[in-house]
Amino acid sequence: MARVGLLAGCSEDSGRLTRRFGTPALADAGELVSDWMRAAGMTVRRDAIGNVIGRIEGAEPGAPALLLGSHLDTVPDAGRYDGALGVLAAIAVVERLREAAGRLPFALEVVAFADEEGSRFGTAFLGSSVLAGSFDRVALARLDADGVSLEDAIRGFGGDPAALDGAGREAGSLVGYAELHIEQGPVLEELGLPLGVVSGIAGQTRAALRFTGRPGHAGTVPMELRRDALAAAAQTVGEVEAVARHTPGLVATVGDVSVSPGVANVIPGQADLVLDVRHPEDADRHWAVALLRRRAGEIASARGVECAWEPLHEQAAVRCDPGLTGRMWQAVQDVGAEPHALASGAGHDAATMAAITPVTMLFVRCAGGVSHHPGESVSEADVAVGVDALTRFVELVAERLSKGTVTS
Ligand code: HGY
Ligand code: MN
Ligand code: MN
Repeated sequence: MARVGLLAGCSEDSGRLTRRFGTPALADAGELVSDWMRAAGMTVRRDAIGNVIGRIEGAEPGAPALLLGSHLDTVPDAGRYDGALGVLAAIAVVERLREAAGRLPFALEVVAFADEEGSRFGTAFLGSSVLAGSFDRVALARLDADGVSLEDAIRGFGGDPAALDGAGREAGSLVGYAELHIEQGPVLEELGLPLGVVSGIAGQTRAALRFTGRPGHAGTVPMELRRDALAAAAQTVGEVEAVARHTPGLVATVGDVSVSPGVANVIPGQADLVLDVRHPEDADRHWAVALLRRRAGEIASARGVECAWEPLHEQAAVRCDPGLTGRMWQAVQDVGAEPHALASGAGHDAATMAAITPVTMLFVRCAGGVSHHPGESVSEADVAVGVDALTRFVELVAERLSKGTVTS
């Protein structure tokens, strides 16, 4: 818990926690995590995008690894547990199993992913997509708010854009991936339970919508002659909410809006939205995205405004591996907690890693379900039982692997 506080001190902003990809704040956090990994007996490396990866060998040097971890980046004005708690819990597990590690039938690795939120470049899971071999090089040309390209940011962060394609893990080099994470929702608190075992992770679509109208003088252009880009965007935001409210299981959000020229006495000529659409079932999500794209176009053309749609990011829904999840379920019981399965509406690196290895996740109760906000908080007791369960999970996977395979 003290380490959570030290990591929270690694921020781009004074007085609040913001730690985006490729920033000195993230580099500082990576240094702290590297020191703690080394102190736990791990060798540490940084991969081509700047993920920090620690490893401690098992009985057979070079054996496939059970990978634990989470992400080290944050949203702007973040809470201090989203991502960081999973990285630190993973390191705590290695510290506890340090003596036993040399007898495990696998290596133990801990990864601190360099970008899960996508706060700086709009594309999420950049860190885990490199490890999973699914990094899309098109993203290298994306610019941040200051016009810096992802490619330059990777270089500036000590990474190597040319080596990204080769930085993926061979599927055979991993036994599985397990991520401890705060729930970021109210279910466990409602149930009075400290831990939850994740059944699956909702799929998500992110897209950039650009409305182009005609700027004009706010005082002289009659209403019926206007081509107000922001008015079209605003009507579209209302439509996004209406469709999501009336489609079971669907959530859709516009959390990023920008207007130009952005002054009170000029009719907006351009408005940009970033849309985030999620559903546990991919077919329903794709249906909703197609509907919203059509409605945005209809709303814009009715107003004489253009609407351009740029896909930013797609993440398929994921079911967690039943075999690994069975180990996690038993681990929760073995440490004296009552297991409860729940789906994750939040995206996680586990969803990306599922493309190359079985995954499982352990949720820790967080107060009020608050997250992506400085009010994020967990109890030390819940974190303790979470680390106990993650440690027990590793032991159960080792026992199972010694008898055969760990997955379903
Ligand atoms: O957006 C998400 O679901 C995650 O917190 N990045
Ligand atoms: Mn998050
Ligand atoms: Mn997270």
